[in-house]
Amino acid sequence: MDIETLANLSREERRFAPPAEFAANANLTAVAYEEATRDRLGFWEKQAERLTWDTRWDRVLDWSNPPFAKWFVGGRLNAAYNAVDRHVEEGAGDKVAFHWIGEPADDARSITYSELKDEVCQAANALVDLGVQAGDRVAIYMPMIPETVVAMLACARLGAPHTVVFGGFSAEALASRIEDCQAKIVITADGGYRRGVPSALKPAVDEALAKLGSRSAVDHVLVVRRTGQTIPFDEVTDVWWHELVASQSVEHTCESFDSEHPLYVMYTSGTTGAPKGILHTTGGYLTGAAYTHWGVFDLKAETDVYWCTADVGWVTGHSYLVYGPLINRTTSVIYEGVPDSPHKGRWWEIIEKYGVTILYTAPTAIRTFMKWGDEIPAKHDLSSLRLLGSVGEPINPEAYVWYRETIGGGRTPVVDTWWQTETGAIMVSPLPGVSDAKPGSAMRAIPGIVADVVNDEGASVPDGTGGYLVIREPWPSMLRTLWGDDQRFKETYWSRWEGMYFAGDGAKKDEDGDVWVLGRVDDVMNVSGHRLSTTEIESALVSHPKVAEAAVVGANDETTGQAVCAYVILREAAGDGGSDIVQELRDHVARGIGAIAKPRQILIVAELPKTRSGKIMRRLLRDVAENREVGDVSTLADSTVMNLIAVGASTSAED
Ligand code: WTA
Repeated sequence: MDIETLANLSREERRFAPPAEFAANANLTAVAYEEATRDRLGFWEKQAERLTWDTRWDRVLDWSNPPFAKWFVGGRLNAAYNAVDRHVEEGAGDKVAFHWIGEPADDARSITYSELKDEVCQAANALVDLGVQAGDRVAIYMPMIPETVVAMLACARLGAPHTVVFGGFSAEALASRIEDCQAKIVITADGGYRRGVPSALKPAVDEALAKLGSRSAVDHVLVVRRTGQTIPFDEVTDVWWHELVASQSVEHTCESFDSEHPLYVMYTSGTTGAPKGILHTTGGYLTGAAYTHWGVFDLKAETDVYWCTADVGWVTGHSYLVYGPLINRTTSVIYEGVPDSPHKGRWWEIIEKYGVTILYTAPTAIRTFMKWGDEIPAKHDLSSLRLLGSVGEPINPEAYVWYRETIGGGRTPVVDTWWQTETGAIMVSPLPGVSDAKPGSAMRAIPGIVADVVNDEGASVPDGTGGYLVIREPWPSMLRTLWGDDQRFKETYWSRWEGMYFAGDGAKKDEDGDVWVLGRVDDVMNVSGHRLSTTEIESALVSHPKVAEAAVVGANDETTGQAVCAYVILREAAGDGGSDIVQELRDHVARGIGAIAKPRQILIVAELPKTRSGKIMRRLLRDVAENREVGDVSTLADSTVMNLIAVGASTSAED
């Protein structure tokens, strides 16, 4: 996206002020902005006091060696103790931590904080039995079941960083993550439910480990029985969760760890083929997750029932389904399945039944519900809702207003929260009790965060103009580095402008200085709120024996935000590729990365538009994919190429 496009935004005049009662009782008020501006580090110290520390820090921030930050230096704490034990010790053991709802009807379980504590201790003891020590990495490849949260917390309790791999990723994607972080244990399940059908997970773990061979450091695979389906089971390496964990003691005394001890590694797509391992550490990350969850969602722990619909395999699941809510002693909903199983009203039925008060989801889901029609949510009583949140991609004003009116009954503030795997926690968002929200705008950096929009030279742009979204000051939940690659960390995020963090989004400041996030300006796509790298999908395509070259772009899509469109040149020997070539290539991408990366559209072309230096001009391919007039072709080595491609596109069918 170029600056011109960025600046060229339609005007949106609607404003939604917080209801008076909401504003009067809000956790965060306008004073917080002033406080944080006056004394930013002091403000963060106050937020860190939400946690229970075994040893208090002696310095808030060490920024002597940027971009390598240390927060709450010298402080010591245990993440799992903060999420679970302390609530039980303080007498809240009987409070429900999770209402877990399985996809099959009537498959549900409510888990109290004291039950959660027992299970986390048992799982921690089991991991110790399997030889896990502080610092060892544990990979988690699971469906959305309570054991997944238990497994994460058990790792955190032992100081063993977890790396949760989204259950929709393929064996190959899993293998590269297991290898990169040299995981010692994999925790998985036989399978999970998807649209009523058991779908296996364990075979993908076996395939990943077989593929890695001696490059894997995995000693054991701990397997939860969820579906009961038949899976391969190796008597030496594989261990059943119900056999090992259930027999453990519910007592486990936890150790405290340094504030900067690694808590987890979350892999995310970058602009190259290799996923990046984003490293989050303990004290700062938990401070950021807890503060934002309390402040942006205006959490009233005594009365709210909170539901974040993200999968635990993404950062949103980490910060706003596990760590933030548990630290804040929240009662949450966790739902295993998809929104349309067994029927399209499933989410609204859950909200009605459990009295959900806060819902946090992605624009893709909202647009899908819009498409399904108002009569579906109308069948349910959604009056318990008092706040709605959106994350993962820009929300278009129509979807925002629909969400507010149809789901929120016109009463609920909507917080459009901008953040990233790298930032660990929400950075730019309205405050629900303060902001006069504008549909489509993430508004302002929250108190404690210093964000800006800058031009190519790194200078702050005036109101009413577009540029790049940056963060000017370090913040507690920032990524500390890329796992095993300090150099790439510096180059990727800190090299464009001196002293500023940039992770690839374009944005506009409107006349009031409010921020409108416009999407990625690098080769990263956002499909249904899932981050995918164009290069990674291109590599997957090129690894197919019939493919000579491939170029991938993210094109606008009404429902998924962006969709993957691929342009492929076949090898001579492959001829026309055969009648099933498109399906064959789509399946190949699904095997290489996961079904989420399957191209919506594949065009077999004879040439790709390249500059004289050989760089593919994705901008032109995006024009074709979005059915636009093709832009300036003067820098192409061969300007006739686009005619061929455009003709090809108009005759190809989408599937
Ligand atoms: C995009 C998800 C517009 C953005 C938490 C960012 C958004 C990427 C918003 C990070 C939003 C996230 N408005 N765009 N409210 N929230 N994004 O790492 O492009 O999976 O860079 O983190 O999602 O995706 P990630």
